[in-house]
Amino acid sequence: MTTTELDRTETFEVVPSGKPAGAEIRGVDIARGVSEATMKKILDALHEWKVVVLRNQRITPEQQIAFSRHFGTLEPHVLPQYLVPGYSELVRVSNVLDDAGKPIGMVDAGRVWHADGHFLPKPNLYSMLYALEIPHDANGKPLGATLFANTAHAYAQLPEAMKQRLQGLRGANSLANVYARMHAENAAKNRPPLTEAQKREAIHPVVRTHPFTGEKCLYVTRAATGRIEGMSQEDGDALIGELGDWCVREENVYAHQWAVGDVLIWDNCSSQHLAVGDYALPQRRLLHRTTVAGLETF
Ligand code: SIN
Repeated sequence: MTTTELDRTETFEVVPSGKPAGAEIRGVDIARGVSEATMKKILDALHEWKVVVLRNQRITPEQQIAFSRHFGTLEPHVLPQYLVPGYSELVRVSNVLDDAGKPIGMVDAGRVWHADGHFLPKPNLYSMLYALEIPHDANGKPLGATLFANTAHAYAQLPEAMKQRLQGLRGANSLANVYARMHAENAAKNRPPLTEAQKREAIHPVVRTHPFTGEKCLYVTRAATGRIEGMSQEDGDALIGELGDWCVREENVYAHQWAVGDVLIWDNCSSQHLAVGDYALPQRRLLHRTTVAGLETF
């Protein structure tokens, strides 16, 4: 545990999860506004731990949007039908149905390992979820955890020969691949067909350099990465499978158990995540999500 300085009346603390990813930040009340100095400490912790949680927050949509803007430019979600009404930058992740029996948000968000916006020319920099309703089992144990893998740690742990092999390789990534994977795993629910623009591939290095920390991060998932440039489909598939599995080995993964009031922020360059679908109505799950746009330089 590290204690750095006072944030208004409370002590700012970063409490690591004990896994390669994940830390809890204490001593910040987002609703009261966050100073530049505190934002720097939050960003430092995020870059070090790849995913951070601020517990016991009570924030309005406006406050979530204002806090999210400290991290960069927000972008509207690719599925506009799930936006929180009146907020183009706030999307609902939820299994709750409206009076007509239609889902109010994305029911199946994140059900395969992925990094947000992997399929975009400028992939999303960060994402943030605020928990409003969390499902529990009959014993009060929270359900619907989100798992996070540290892809910088995954790269650093690779054998030297594999690091050499990956130099200069580029992967082709698409939302169509993600959908195909979700369908194959029976994880897709109520997804409208993709437009031609949404199906487009984005070519990215297999090993990405983090824009702020300079860390090298594996940037391949079984879901989004469909092929490796210059490799046969068979060889590419084998490498994608090997690297994807390497990233999400249990020892590299932090499981976030949600509580209402959690604000969770993750870095999409140095992590991959997976939402666990181990709950169903009447167990309700509702989170509000913002997404920070990627940078000009990749
Ligand atoms: C996501 O991948 O954006 C959703 C994660 C979650 O619902 O836990």
